[in-house]
Amino acid sequence: MKERIEALKAEFDRVLSDAKKLDEAEKIRVAYLGKKGSVTELLKMLQNVSNEEKKELGQHINLLKKHAEARIAERLEEIKKAETEALVSSAKKYDVTLPVSEISGSYSPITLVQREVEEIFASMGFTIEDFSEIVNDYECFESLNIPKNHPARDTHDTYYLDNGQVLKTHTSAAQNHIMRKYGPPLRAIFPGRCFRNESIDASHENTFFQLEGMMIDKNISISNLIYFMKSMLSEVFERDVKVRLRPGFFPFVEPGFELDISCLICGGEGCPSCKNSGWLELCPCGMIHPRVLEMGGIDPEEYTGFAFGLGLTRLAMMKYGIKDIRDFNSGSLKTLSQFKHI
Ligand code: FA5
Repeated sequence: MKERIEALKAEFDRVLSDAKKLDEAEKIRVAYLGKKGSVTELLKMLQNVSNEEKKELGQHINLLKKHAEARIAERLEEIKKAETEALVSSAKKYDVTLPVSEISGSYSPITLVQREVEEIFASMGFTIEDFSEIVNDYECFESLNIPKNHPARDTHDTYYLDNGQVLKTHTSAAQNHIMRKYGPPLRAIFPGRCFRNESIDASHENTFFQLEGMMIDKNISISNLIYFMKSMLSEVFERDVKVRLRPGFFPFVEPGFELDISCLICGGEGCPSCKNSGWLELCPCGMIHPRVLEMGGIDPEEYTGFAFGLGLTRLAMMKYGIKDIRDFNSGSLKTLSQFKHI
């Protein structure tokens, strides 16, 4: 019987080393150590031997059992490791040195439209400015003629930091800084992310992008404002877009307007994206209030200027036919990957 035990051990080692998959190793475990397995059968055969032999053979069989259990555990680990290595080496590698075109991913439609608008304004002599997302109360409100307790603050509820700073509610928060940085005459645009405590719907998000613009010089009038707005929109949409100007109130412009565009999602018929009005509020604008110029260190007797605050996220919706603003922040690859080849 000793020879049988040795032969079984040799056979087990050979069979197990041939196993290349986890289920193969598992079958071998059952074939040798299972209830009806070869090693278990050997143990049962001890009933037929003398007590003296039983002790010695029992030790041998138990050693074989322990050996088989340990080898199976080792082999399972070896197979798992080999499978993982095979998986890793067959996977497409992420390589930071690859040219951009090789990396899977895409620009957000907002980035695409932002770049387009930047190019249009750069070609008209505007500089492109960047500004912080965290601003102070003076930048966001006071310097824009919105003192504490002014009702205009109601629509600009935002996230306040412990130190009194705020997440900017509009890109206008950079106006004062830019006036002081360049002085007149100036032409600048400044895109940025804005944050508001909003009731979210198809056209309102709590985090969205605007692109602000200012032009300050001698004799700047509303005609200049309308000319620049129309030029920009017809270039972005590559066609004549129906726009309308309505009076609008913003404490930092006088007069102020709301510039709406005819909804390109429904063709002006009315849909959830335009709140069924057929028009989408896109770009409030107006002539910069003399007090705001003054606070920016500019003499309002000598200089005038216009400012506008384009809703960049809404512009991307209109340009690419995105029906629901919530798609942008949804992280939905199904939606966003469609912009890969634009
Ligand atoms: C402003 O933010 C003014 N600072 C704009 C301005 C600049 C007026 C310069 C005059 C002169 P308003 O809150 O309307 O205005 O926002 C401007 C645009 O941002 C809107 O027309 C809209 O297109 C976009 N917008 C505003 N709130 C949201 C929101 N919650 N989600 C998505 N887009 C928004």
